[in-house]
Amino acid sequence: MKKLLLVFGTRPEAIKMAPVIKEFQKYPSEFDVKVCVTAQHRQMLDQVLEFFEIVPDYDLNLMRPNQNLYSITCDVVMSVKGVLEEFNPDYVFVHGDTTTSTATAIAAYYARTKIVHVEAGLRTYNKYAPYPEEMNRQLTGRLTDIHLSPTTRAKENLVSERIPAEDIYITGNTVIDALLYSVEKVERLTDNDEINMLKEICGKDEIIAITGHRRENFGDGFIHICDALKEIALKFPKIRIIYPVHLNPNVQEPVYTLLAGIDNISLIKPLEYPAFVWLMKRCKLIITDSGGVQEEAPSLGKPVLVMREVTERPEAVEAGTVHLVGTDKDKIVNEVTTLMTDSLKYNQMAECINPYGDGLASKRILELFRNL
Ligand code: UD1
Ligand code: UDP
Repeated sequence: MKKLLLVFGTRPEAIKMAPVIKEFQKYPSEFDVKVCVTAQHRQMLDQVLEFFEIVPDYDLNLMRPNQNLYSITCDVVMSVKGVLEEFNPDYVFVHGDTTTSTATAIAAYYARTKIVHVEAGLRTYNKYAPYPEEMNRQLTGRLTDIHLSPTTRAKENLVSERIPAEDIYITGNTVIDALLYSVEKVERLTDNDEINMLKEICGKDEIIAITGHRRENFGDGFIHICDALKEIALKFPKIRIIYPVHLNPNVQEPVYTLLAGIDNISLIKPLEYPAFVWLMKRCKLIITDSGGVQEEAPSLGKPVLVMREVTERPEAVEAGTVHLVGTDKDKIVNEVTTLMTDSLKYNQMAECINPYGDGLASKRILELFRNL
């Protein structure tokens, strides 16, 4: 019996780890699976756990209002230490590039426990973009024993860093597993409060969906983003902008200060995952700095404008469904104007391609561990 500990703390990690947990849990005679949440996020994590019906075995409850990188790192290392001592797993699974993942990898390495990195090998090679995620994933990569890469490109990055190729497996991205599960579940939901609320807000309008939370955009970046959204709202009064605002106070403050009270901008609280999936399907266009949304939207045939200078997810940019627009106000407004007025260009971007997976990533991960 292999003892697996899956550790995560934020909304995107929970969404992307959920399908992996569900797969392993189907085989209790082969795997002793325990889930540990650091709760680096609280509300935004809990809604995902509830949707996927995951009950953590360990809940470290670490989130503090306006927390900082130092305190999250220290708290995760110290708290995960206790879990490792109690459960003594064979493998610790971490995901992606959050501070929860890197601090957990450090704790697991100190305990000489094997580390499995889900979504391994994404890189910009720019230390401060995204910050601190680029260094988080590089550091986690150095400590990892088994690398689960979503794409060939991600594997190539690791090989170029002298990670042995035999330790790297291309699995596809588990976010597509989560997305397909959710799309199907959303279609069966008849009475969901958030989706009902969205239907009312949307009416028959064309919708632009927005998300944003990156640390490198705090300050001037968010001010320029809000200025751009304001200009788009004035230029296209018949279009509705729906913006579920991330709970980070560094996002809430500028967004509510600069955008509240504009008729065709709806600022709402972060949506639960099924409602956000509904919104992605319903909208015409997405503007975001999110990593996960860049992967999901192409699967739903939605053009994405990414408010970042660089991306670790070049596959969709090369395929043409994602454009990088940074946080330059004019660039954002011009790109939106093109997509809203030029149906040929819109259709070229909306062509449905799916470079990130086929929905079977978690099954591949399961099979890999059955055979280890
Ligand atoms: C974190 C991750 C980032 C990931 C993002 C996903 C790090 C350093 N950052 O950034 O990689 O892309 O999550 O969203 O690991 N808050 C709440 N309730 C919640 C969640 C957050 O109130 O459910 C507020 C709290 O005041 C918290 C703050 O947001 O202190 C910041 O949370 P934190 O996890 O430090 O940073 P994020 O920007 O969410
Ligand atoms: N998401 C959500 N509700 C929202 C906004 C986003 O459930 O209101 C989902 C989205 O579908 C994606 C994930 O959250 O799967 C992305 O999280 P986030 O942008 O916070 O983090 P990142 O992916 O950038 O690390």
